[in-house]
Amino acid sequence: TPLVVRTIPEMREAIRTHRAAAGATASVGFVPTMGFLHDGHASLIGRSARENGLTVLSIFVNPLQFGPNEDFERYPRDEARDLEVAARAGADIVFMPSVAEMYPTPAATQIAVSGVTERLCGASRPGHFDGVGIVVTKLLNIVQPDRAYFGLKDAQQVAVIERMVADLNQPVEIVPCPIVRESDGLAMSSRNVYLSEDERREALVISRTLANVPAWIGAGKDAAQLTAAVKDGISASPLADIDYVETLTYPGLQPPAPEAPLSASGERIIVAAAVRFGRTRLIDNILITTP
Ligand code: PAJ
Repeated sequence: TPLVVRTIPEMREAIRTHRAAAGATASVGFVPTMGFLHDGHASLIGRSARENGLTVLSIFVNPLQFGPNEDFERYPRDEARDLEVAARAGADIVFMPSVAEMYPTPAATQIAVSGVTERLCGASRPGHFDGVGIVVTKLLNIVQPDRAYFGLKDAQQVAVIERMVADLNQPVEIVPCPIVRESDGLAMSSRNVYLSEDERREALVISRTLANVPAWIGAGKDAAQLTAAVKDGISASPLADIDYVETLTYPGLQPPAPEAPLSASGERIIVAAAVRFGRTRLIDNILITTP
């Protein structure tokens, strides 16, 4: 079972000990999460465990990245189960700080990444990525890993973190990892437990619609046509309440050239969706490299 660490000094000490024992070849992999772990999280932990001598998992529900009307209070938590998943997946250390440990005083410093935060969740969740930026920076400074693993389920988050790390010369390699899905295609998420049986069934419309994107691009659609087709597909579910569907370049997250077939754009293209089912907001996306 992994070592459970709840304070910043203990976390730093554990890393110091590991690096001293492992010597010059020591490598530390880091997987930041908010817990309620599923196979998506486990895939990041497993990859880190394969690629590094020590894997640190953090579990911290970061209040700064939740808006006032979002689900911070009711975000699902299950420490005992998380520790079992962490152990099975190969985590060596689980860092689980309290809110007071991470924010003894309200942070006066802001991390605001412009450009890549203009659209998608950056637009629909004001302040969200500022909260992600500060917590990830603090965690990277505490753990000082060689590599940090992030899932493309949150593709905009990956773009934001990569840009932040590059701009600030944070000494870490960011490793983007593929989306892990349920066997029927629904992207795994800690928030899936909020879904009623009906909502869970209807939520499949997102992944099923996004799966058509490569064929639609191949058929010559431009960005506006593709976005419209995806919106139509998702709207076919009576329970789906679309927050956004957008077709953008990746990782820049800007609109591709208008009225030009995406198949000829020569860029990576992302189609990203956020859709409410009842009170639950789900996100998913597909990344395509056009020839
Ligand atoms: P959380 O939503 O717990 O996700 C932790 C990591 O797991 C993120 O990198 C996320 O992209 C990845 N992940 C979640 N579901 C996934 C799936 N189905 N397949 C692959 N990877 C998946 O993202 C956060 O927490 C927070 O914003 C955090 C980075 C920890 C900062 O607070």
